[in-house]
Amino acid sequence: MGKFLVEGQRSLSGKVSINGAKNSALKLMVATLLGHGKFTLENVPHITDVYTMVGVLEALGVYISFDSRLMHLDVSSLQGQTPQKLARSMRASVQVMGPLLSRLGWVEVAKPGGCNIGTRPLDIHLLGLEQMGATIDVTDDTFVAWAPRGLKGADITFRYPSVGATENIMMAAAIAKGSTVIRNAAREPEILDIQEFLNSMGAKVKGAGTSVITIEGVHELGSTDFTVMPDRIEAGTYLLAFLMSGGNGTVAGAIPEHLESLLDLISSMGANIEVHQGEISISSPKRLEPFNILTSPYPGFPTDLQPQMVALATQAHGKSELLEAVFDQRFGYTIELMKLGAQIGQKGKTLLVDGPARLQGASISAGDLRAGAALVLAALAADGQSTICGVEHIDRGYESIEKRLTQIGAKIQRIEE
Ligand code: UD1
Repeated sequence: MGKFLVEGQRSLSGKVSINGAKNSALKLMVATLLGHGKFTLENVPHITDVYTMVGVLEALGVYISFDSRLMHLDVSSLQGQTPQKLARSMRASVQVMGPLLSRLGWVEVAKPGGCNIGTRPLDIHLLGLEQMGATIDVTDDTFVAWAPRGLKGADITFRYPSVGATENIMMAAAIAKGSTVIRNAAREPEILDIQEFLNSMGAKVKGAGTSVITIEGVHELGSTDFTVMPDRIEAGTYLLAFLMSGGNGTVAGAIPEHLESLLDLISSMGANIEVHQGEISISSPKRLEPFNILTSPYPGFPTDLQPQMVALATQAHGKSELLEAVFDQRFGYTIELMKLGAQIGQKGKTLLVDGPARLQGASISAGDLRAGAALVLAALAADGQSTICGVEHIDRGYESIEKRLTQIGAKIQRIEE
């Protein structure tokens, strides 16, 4: 537990290098459960969700060492029951279901926790696994699934392009009997990372990045060495930090194409953006224009940048509108932004933000990961000192955010409690 003390209104400048993607690293770690032997993952971020996943995989029988950004995993004999406390603390732990069921013929997974951003049902995961021949019992605390004769390939059409369900079924299908087709699959860049990872272990997966993914099941998978893709949400958050402070700077190591929807939006607000050899440079305009946007699955505007974008909207000149169309309760943080002086109204799933607001430092509290990032951004623009509690949520997905912001000119300090 800790908090951040932020002295606002300092203009940021300089360069930030982007780390490996949380939402890819966690799934690649899980995908090793399908293989045999020694894996090396490079560019793994030091964030608490990764440490939690290390705990989950170790409890399942994987030997792991994690030093610098290099993770070594040794997979031989596995068992299929996830540790309740760890699994509950992170939603991505439900991803072990597909691979373990496929590999062991049974699995017991504690119902997951994670960010407090909506009801987040798992019906698409469960239905997909059932179509592949699994029987699943749902109790108050767990999912118990079995398929003693192994999973079989199936033709599965998702009712919604769920990222997690796409990954879960891809992994389950990699060593199932026969071929599987996933229709209306998620198209996020992280899906392509997992396809490449599985194929480098010997799987036969194609179509990632489109809405139809085909997996030809193989008998057994080996191991591989792989580099985790850069984190597009971390990159987007730092780009917004520069804008929020009225500063100029560069984000290095990201893949600009993954950020197209964000770059289009902030250019339309007046930001000057240059992309050169994989680096994205941004300079703040004199006046930020308001915007009108909705979140949607990739290549649409990412829901994981929604709270940070709302923080920026408080500094735009005029009324911005943002419709959250992916999650049903992702506005809890707005009350904290209002404590700083933000003018935010809500109509159903749409936020109406009036700007520019003169934000004043206050004591605020992060309730989930991306909301926490939004509060940090708002505190950077506020006059005076802000105290942000709940930084453990921010640590789930941002490595040393306070150190990296300090390097580019912010005044932010972590107080351990
Ligand atoms: C992943 C990301 C998360 C991001 C989200 C959407 C990870 C660890 N997390 O989460 O950061 O915000 O994608 O880009 O990669 N849904 C159902 N039934 C299901 C599954 C999902 O109704 O079985 C709904 C969810 O409640 C939500 C929407 O579909 O409203 C999107 O969820 P999904 O794409 O599955 O997100 P996650 O994989 O959980």
